[in-house]
Amino acid sequence: MRVLVTGGAGFIGSAFIRTTIAADESAEIVNLDKLTYAGNLENLAEIENHPRYRFVQGDICDAALLDGLFASSRFDAVVHFAAESHVDRSILSPDPVFETNLRGAFRLLEAARMHNVARFVHISTDEVYGSIDPPHEASENYPLRASSPYSASKAGSDLLALSYFTTYRLPVIVTRASNNYGPYQFPEKLIPLMISNALEDRRLPVYGDGMQVRDWLYVDDHCRAIREVLKKGREGEIYNIGGNCSLPNLEVIRRILEAAHKPESLLETVKDRPGHDRRYALSSAKLMAETGWKPLTGFDEGLARTIDWYRQNSGWVKRVKSGEYQNYYALNYGARGTV
Ligand code: NAD
Ligand code: TYD
Repeated sequence: MRVLVTGGAGFIGSAFIRTTIAADESAEIVNLDKLTYAGNLENLAEIENHPRYRFVQGDICDAALLDGLFASSRFDAVVHFAAESHVDRSILSPDPVFETNLRGAFRLLEAARMHNVARFVHISTDEVYGSIDPPHEASENYPLRASSPYSASKAGSDLLALSYFTTYRLPVIVTRASNNYGPYQFPEKLIPLMISNALEDRRLPVYGDGMQVRDWLYVDDHCRAIREVLKKGREGEIYNIGGNCSLPNLEVIRRILEAAHKPESLLETVKDRPGHDRRYALSSAKLMAETGWKPLTGFDEGLARTIDWYRQNSGWVKRVKSGEYQNYYALNYGARGTV
């Protein structure tokens, strides 16, 4: 099976490539990535010379590049990860978010349609359902109520992808996963930011009261779910992928401090995120019933593995935290101040 992975130099895409090359001997992967601030070829160092893997640097918004690549490679499937993926950045600077997440998704769907691709998995997020009051959880037909430019762009691209199934019968499947964590995650998201700050004895910025709830999914469990969907998912369908691990942010941060043997005095309450969703919660019952998938990595085990990885890879952390990251950090956190 010849697969085009977009955004494969990012956190989840690189985990998908590494684990799929190992898990499926028939998989040949082409990775198309623009290498934005979030794309990093170091994430793929262990397979860069693998005979079933090839990297192409390019933008999913570039129609001519896509046409040439699809014509020469004749993909059996597309797994579309490429996106501007961070809520805080989408609030500070929404332009690239709509450019890549909407226009880029559109260009990729067009290329897949023109070249009769047999499977198109569009990777999306539980954030499209917006904040959900307890005790409810979102199933796949729950209304879309996106709150941030990021989640609105993902909701829009989900609809776009599904419209290509309805109108053109392009064999599209949409997956919506909960918050991922694990090795190689860029330290702008909660868990890697808190781990790397804690390991450097820096302050841990908690937005508002820290009681916002997220459902945590270990990245390799997510990638395994995507492979199941690629093999067994039904065309035109949406599949939620949750970690079955709902925790308030403060609890997550306290567990990081405990596991890293760092004091609670590192916690710092900062100004809340505008439009901050209070709680995400989703049901993965459909995916489990249709494929037998379930998450296998418990949170404490996944967190210990992740902290260990960040400890062992201080060079990687140092490199991604230099340069542009410093500007982002000053912009996002400097303006927040301590409440
Ligand atoms: P990431 O930010 O780590 O990586 C995104 C990758 O996309 C980078 O390698 C970047 O260079 C590439 N990219 C960005 N714009 C591009 C463009 N125009 N053309 C080609 N490549 C481009 O993101 P991630 O956390 O790995 O998320 C991957 C996907 O999973 C996204 O679609 C995201 O919405 C979705 N998702 C993420 C999470 C999460 O917790 N991180 C949860 C659910 C869904
Ligand atoms: P994040 O990892 O950005 O994912 P998302 O907002 O897409 O769910 O944030 C997870 C939660 O952690 C969210 O409630 C915001 C909160 N948060 C902080 O409290 N401080 C931080 O510095 C960051 C990055 C996030």
